[in-house]
Amino acid sequence: MSKEHTYTNGEVTIIWRKERCIHSTRCWKGLPAVFQPGQRPWIKAEGQATEAIIAQVEQCPSGALTYRMNGEGAAEERNDEAHVRMEVTPGGPLVLHGDVDVVLPDGSTEHRTGRSAFCRCGASANKPWCDGSHRRVGTLG
Ligand code: SF4
Ligand code: FES
Repeated sequence: MSKEHTYTNGEVTIIWRKERCIHSTRCWKGLPAVFQPGQRPWIKAEGQATEAIIAQVEQCPSGALTYRMNGEGAAEERNDEAHVRMEVTPGGPLVLHGDVDVVLPDGSTEHRTGRSAFCRCGASANKPWCDGSHRRVGTLG
């Protein structure tokens, strides 16, 4: 299970899993008042509108960002999907939407919810997950 970093505005809590981030830049280009790479902490939820935060979190392509409403348990974490769907992103990873158990080469199983980005360029240093290296190698067009 990857480590969670959490940030809240008192109403909604943003959850960020660093290992899943493929540095798509979508969050900080879409909502720069909240997502500020280079700053510490890099997510500033305080004083920001819950609706805008949720709308942006739901656009994270890798599942690195999810959210839960404060007062709800971890089981209520949002951004899960009821069925599995696989998306071949242009020039990027395979993005699986939904709950899935991934059996890794060492025989261990990792349970994933929400979105998971799988490397299809072969260059990731964190296989089977995409780490954004496809942009550097450029083999996917
Ligand atoms: S993968 Fe998600 S968390 Fe990472 S930069 Fe893109 S939108 Fe932000
Ligand atoms: S597809 Fe992103 S690192 Fe390979």
